[in-house]
Amino acid sequence: MGVKGMLFIIVALVLVEVEVEVVAIDDIDSTQIALDGCRRKCGDVQIPYPFGVGKTVNGTTCFLEKSFNLTCNSSSSSLTSGNVHVININISQGQADMLIFVSKYCYDNIYGNTSVISLPHRLTSSPSFTISSKDNKFISVGCDTYGYLNSFYNNSNYSTGCLTRCYGNTMEIKDGDCSGIGCCEVDIPPRMRNVSTQVGTFQNFQSSLAFNNCSYSFVVKNDNYTFSKAHLENLPYEMLPVVFNWSVGNKTCKESFNRGTNTCKGNSICLDAKSGHGYRCQCKQGFEGNPYHPHGCIDIDECNTRQHSCVSDHNCHNTNGSYICLCPKGQSGNGIKEDGCHKKNFLPHIFIGTSAGFIAILVGTCLLYLTYQKRKLIKLKEKFFEQNGGLILLQQGEESSHTKIFTADKLKKATNNYDENLIIGRGGYGTIFKGVLENKTIVAIKKSKIVDPDQVVQFINEVIVLSQINHRNVVKLLGCCLETEVPLLVYEFVSNGTLFDFIHNENKRNYFNWENRLRIATETAGALSYLHSAASIPIVHRDVKSANILLDEDYTAKVSDFGASRFVPLDQTALATMVQGTFGYLDPEYMQTSQLTEKSDVYSFGVVLAELLTGKKPFSFEKSEEKTNLAKYFLSCVKEDCLLEALQVGILNEGNKQEIVEVAIIATKCLRLTGEERPSMKEVAMELEGIRLMSKHQWVNNGDKNFEEIQHLLPISSSSERYEHGDSSSGHQTTQYDSIMKDQEVLIALPSGR
Ligand SMILES: *[C@@H]1O[C@H](CO)[C@@H](O)[C@H](O)[C@H]1NC(C)=O
Ligand SMILES: *[C@@H]1O[C@H](CO)[C@@H](O)[C@H](O)[C@H]1NC(C)=O
Ligand SMILES: *[C@@H]1O[C@H](CO)[C@@H](O)[C@H](O)[C@H]1NC(C)=O
Ligand SMILES: *[C@@H]1O[C@H](CO)[C@@H](O)[C@H](O)[C@H]1NC(C)=O
Ligand SMILES: *[C@@H]1O[C@H](CO)[C@@H](O)[C@H](O)[C@H]1NC(C)=O
Ligand SMILES: *[C@@H]1O[C@H](CO)[C@@H](O)[C@H](O)[C@H]1NC(C)=O
Ligand SMILES: *[C@@H]1O[C@H](CO)[C@@H](O)[C@H](O)[C@H]1NC(C)=O
Ligand SMILES: *[C@@H]1O[C@H](CO)[C@@H](O)[C@H](O)[C@H]1NC(C)=O
Ligand SMILES: *[C@@H]1O[C@H](CO)[C@@H](O)[C@H](O)[C@H]1NC(C)=O
Ligand SMILES: *[C@@H]1O[C@H](CO)[C@@H](O)[C@H](O)[C@H]1NC(C)=O
Ligand SMILES: *[C@@H]1O[C@H](CO)[C@@H](O)[C@H](O)[C@H]1NC(C)=O
Ligand SMILES: *[C@@H]1O[C@H](CO)[C@@H](O)[C@H](O)[C@H]1NC(C)=O
Repeated sequence: MGVKGMLFIIVALVLVEVEVEVVAIDDIDSTQIALDGCRRKCGDVQIPYPFGVGKTVNGTTCFLEKSFNLTCNSSSSSLTSGNVHVININISQGQADMLIFVSKYCYDNIYGNTSVISLPHRLTSSPSFTISSKDNKFISVGCDTYGYLNSFYNNSNYSTGCLTRCYGNTMEIKDGDCSGIGCCEVDIPPRMRNVSTQVGTFQNFQSSLAFNNCSYSFVVKNDNYTFSKAHLENLPYEMLPVVFNWSVGNKTCKESFNRGTNTCKGNSICLDAKSGHGYRCQCKQGFEGNPYHPHGCIDIDECNTRQHSCVSDHNCHNTNGSYICLCPKGQSGNGIKEDGCHKKNFLPHIFIGTSAGFIAILVGTCLLYLTYQKRKLIKLKEKFFEQNGGLILLQQGEESSHTKIFTADKLKKATNNYDENLIIGRGGYGTIFKGVLENKTIVAIKKSKIVDPDQVVQFINEVIVLSQINHRNVVKLLGCCLETEVPLLVYEFVSNGTLFDFIHNENKRNYFNWENRLRIATETAGALSYLHSAASIPIVHRDVKSANILLDEDYTAKVSDFGASRFVPLDQTALATMVQGTFGYLDPEYMQTSQLTEKSDVYSFGVVLAELLTGKKPFSFEKSEEKTNLAKYFLSCVKEDCLLEALQVGILNEGNKQEIVEVAIIATKCLRLTGEERPSMKEVAMELEGIRLMSKHQWVNNGDKNFEEIQHLLPISSSSERYEHGDSSSGHQTTQYDSIMKDQEVLIALPSGR
């Protein structure tokens, strides 16, 4: 029971452990779609937009641009443009395979010279098409032959080619060997377009072999042509496949976006064409389909198409553009194949021996209880909604208050019925679950403890105020649910854990240099200042601590739990009161006044600054006596001129000593014993901002400010006495909190053990 009891006692820190891992998959199987009312296939060839055949009944063309205008010959099932046959169109690669005529020059004793030269055609002369240099080769076949590949575009003209002569030497001509005799091949330079092939002979086959009276040259897709001796007499192909890269438009992505002519649709990205002409579109990772089609790309359902790495389909939860793996109720783990899910090692082994009868009774009781609950549920929901101030909220009008009211069922579904595995934190006044809403948004859902009915109006007003706050450094409140006995608050999900974690976790600490610390301190101070002064009613946080400062993926600070702690839980005991300010951060004045004000937040923020500077926990029970209270320890350090020794290893360097001292001065001011003497949050924020600006412009200042200066700022003699006084009174309190501290110690030990 003791263990369970402890769980409900304040956990001084919010443990953020991401148990569900988001995995992105890059394996996209694109489906190809034509415009509505347009031909999707010609024979076996699919015709994805921007390519198209003809018009819709409306008279709009089925293709995007003239270059993609194709014709389908139904009787021969061939998709053509002029004399070019299109045999495959690949949207995701931006490529198309086409059959192109082979150039041929023959000598005939009777009929004389005959020649077929492959000329540019309407389709491939368009600048939208470039020969893929990577996927094709240029080949000439013959024994007295030269072949050219000419590219003519924008008035510039260039060619490549190869020649082959046999001089009657048949020994060197081998099947499958296109190395210069009888057959030669060259790579194709990049960005070749509007190409034509040209073939000729040096001596009109005079010195050539009797069996060779033709020369051929052509471009062909890699591995789609194998030379054979027989081809010298007669090449059995009229056309061969060539791979073209295509692009749409005639401007870059940026230009086309500026002009509003970009045709990349939903969930796609735009890539500039390597050919320098136009761009192409590609579905974002996790999406598939046709990025040119008005419907855009669609989400891949990884879970139902076995494209996930979760333990099983059951554990897989599809999201927009990705998926997450969840473990079944009562199990923990990341749900991914290598790691999987394991039974939570929660119950001691003694319980395993428990008799089946006991379990049966338990199950029976539960069933009875559930039936009873169900009957009462609907009535209860209404009652709770009213009790929790739902009517006040409705009066305000959902729209004007920006507060979204969630139903209990929705949130139950989002959290997999409050699955223990989805718990990402436990605070003094509730538990925080990670949840996935129906629209795939990931949110944090806070289940509060029981609220005093007398405070309902205040609660609702504060919910309304909080949901109107839109500050970069405050975790956004998205809405609430009032149908449950305890109100549920829905917040945006912040992914990167807590500041506490970053300061005190050895693995993460390295990433956490002084610059980042100063930035986060400044952001936090800005947020607190904003809420103290800028909001329509001043909001006091009451529980400022590093564990309530969350970091998002860019390590931007987001202050959480703002103002929510105003709602004093019903079971208000000495313990619950403690919750209001976490031990170590709590304003000492509160001991006398039992009031938490804006200045209490300033004090707590001072502790956070001290924490950032020293890297020490504000409530350490392991260290020697004097270190148990970080604020006390920090002040004494400053007083005894040992600040630099007290700094966390690694944050001090050549350039930042001055800044550190400045911040220490601010912390000292914040930690003054009387609230009145502390600066306001606005002043703190401005000073920190100033230090950051100075650090950006290098320190122009000359001599070091020394520590005597800080000591001046320490409480003067009279307040020193008060300090002593406060000291003894807190000593008195210590005995009272003794047992709590022990509990905390156990709980605090949890994260390092995990
Ligand atoms: C015809 O045009 C109307 C509106 O202009 C559009 O809603 C409809 O989808 C079009 N039909 C086809 C087959 O393109
Ligand atoms: C598309 O091609 C067909 C056949 O070559 C031609 O008749 C038609 O005019 C072309 N359409 C446009 C808009 O160029
Ligand atoms: C369609 O293909 C058939 C068979 O190859 C051919 O005879 C006919 O001329 C083609 N029609 C057109 C319009 O090209
Ligand atoms: C397009 O290319 C990709 C990658 O090479 C391939 O997976 C896909 O099957 C191709 N699609 C078509 C229609 O050829
Ligand atoms: C065949 O072509 C060659 C050069 O291309 C030319 O010299 C010769 O006169 C031509 N012969 C005939 C019969 O046209
Ligand atoms: C393609 O090349 C031919 C000559 O080979 C030229 O007449 C034509 O203008 C070129 N087309 C483009 C679009 O550059
Ligand atoms: C065409 O050539 C001119 C000058 O040679 C150049 O300024 C222009 O950028 C070129 N256009 C394209 C699309 O390459
Ligand atoms: C391109 O260059 C070749 C070789 O110099 C020449 O024969 C051909 O006429 C040129 N083509 C054009 C369109 O200028
Ligand atoms: C053609 O496309 C392929 C595959 O997307 C790419 O690797 C290649 O660089 C492209 N070549 C040109 C000349 O754009
Ligand atoms: C090549 O010459 C042989 C006889 O020497 C003749 O039978 C054959 O038709 C010729 N081939 C071509 C394509 O002219
Ligand atoms: C090209 O090569 C592929 C595979 O090597 C083969 O499946 C295809 O039939 C070939 N196409 C032609 C036109 O030879
Ligand atoms: C680029 O495309 C637009 C619209 O398709 C067209 O009006 C313009 O003439 C084109 N510009 C060039 C240089 O091809």
